[in-house]
Amino acid sequence: MAAGREYLAGARTEGLLSRVGETVDTLPTAAFPDKRWFQKSYGRGVTDRPEDYLIGDGLFYLTEQRKLFLDCTGGHYQMTWGYEHPALTALLLDGIRRGVVWDNHSNIPSAPVKRLAGKLVELANPDADMGAVQGDGERLNTVLLGTATGTVACAAALKIALRVYEQSKSEHGAPVFVTLDGNYHGTDVFAQYLRGMWDQYFTNVESVRVQPNDAEELEDVFSRYGQRVAAFMCEPIMMNREAIPLEPWYLQLCRRLTENVGAPLIVDEIQTGFWYPEVLMYKRFGIEPDMVVLGKGMTAGLHPLSALLYKGRFDCLEQYDAISTNGNAALAALNALGCIELIERNARHIDEVGKYYYGRIVELAEQFPGVIAQARGAGHMSGMKFHRVEDALEFHRRATDAGLWLRVHAYHEGHSTCLTKFGLPLDRQVADFAVGRYSALLSELSGV
Ligand SMILES: Cc1ncc(COP(=O)(O)O)c(C=O)c1O
Repeated sequence: MAAGREYLAGARTEGLLSRVGETVDTLPTAAFPDKRWFQKSYGRGVTDRPEDYLIGDGLFYLTEQRKLFLDCTGGHYQMTWGYEHPALTALLLDGIRRGVVWDNHSNIPSAPVKRLAGKLVELANPDADMGAVQGDGERLNTVLLGTATGTVACAAALKIALRVYEQSKSEHGAPVFVTLDGNYHGTDVFAQYLRGMWDQYFTNVESVRVQPNDAEELEDVFSRYGQRVAAFMCEPIMMNREAIPLEPWYLQLCRRLTENVGAPLIVDEIQTGFWYPEVLMYKRFGIEPDMVVLGKGMTAGLHPLSALLYKGRFDCLEQYDAISTNGNAALAALNALGCIELIERNARHIDEVGKYYYGRIVELAEQFPGVIAQARGAGHMSGMKFHRVEDALEFHRRATDAGLWLRVHAYHEGHSTCLTKFGLPLDRQVADFAVGRYSALLSELSGV
């Protein structure tokens, strides 16, 4: 690890880019543990040459076999600033030196946790008088920060919706939760039910899934179920369904329809939050949700903390209804504050590079219309929808061979998209390199 770290830290970006995909054989070899004790779905296996993560720096990492990768996914969509960002590392070390704890009981939250709650409210209500915001139940002025993962924060939002329904609308019959087809709101059993699992075990509740950006279907569903709608929950970019972006008019329609039936609009920003210059992506759609789920990139990947930001009038859960006991993490909150500050300071650059990268993906789609059906996503979270699933899988395989770590959605019927979510240190040089490599692979695939 030490040799790998020295190598990455001592190299210039051009030098690293020129060696992506190669084995850095000047580094010493070592024996590494294998995955023999993991579950099968997690790669359980015995090998004397494990290819797992060894050490990273910014957008680059080395595997245990010393192969150099460009990480096009920000870890797994959560390392906002890549690996070992110097400003965040310095902030954490300083925090530790000053006595910021890993965690403590949520009844005695420490300063970084309280400051982070304040910062999230401020982000949702910029330029507002905070005194007025505090007293107004119609504003996003309440933060549940006692949760460790996105799953628990999503579950908290759904429980709030259920409780509100029970208190105000239960005479209308069983509640209906409307979500997008292909949604992913975590691994809680109810969230899984909302994406079609465990159907037979849930009674007295209904899950209805609609196609993204289909106004007619959404209007039909709302007119069919009316007051029975307990919540509408969505992601602004469906990062678990081929990076389909919701259109602003669609989110505005969701807002109007939920308001008409008195149901909360829950926007799950686990993926989109902290990846755009606005920090909270919903800001660009001209709507205000009732609840915003945050996690992943908020702490730039430092475990464990997620958050639910919601309007005061939905503050109806009891203290232990939605918690993780290690979800009051002061050090993670400090990192989140540092992460937000970096986004605010670099907002213009993030915006500019994000647009540039997406623009180059659009160009690729135009250049290879026989292989790519569409550019997807937005900014750093951009992907390529392939016509054929075989091409998406082959592109992914060749990209990984060539040292580009990206994701493919090809495990559901009709899915054929390669996804990237670059960490925010992305610049034009790295974007050009990545797109150049995609282009070479697409040429091979299309025989052009
Ligand atoms: C949109 C969305 N919601 C919720 C979650 C669950 O978050 P976590 O894995 O932190 O529990 C994820 C995770 O990928 C996600 O992408």
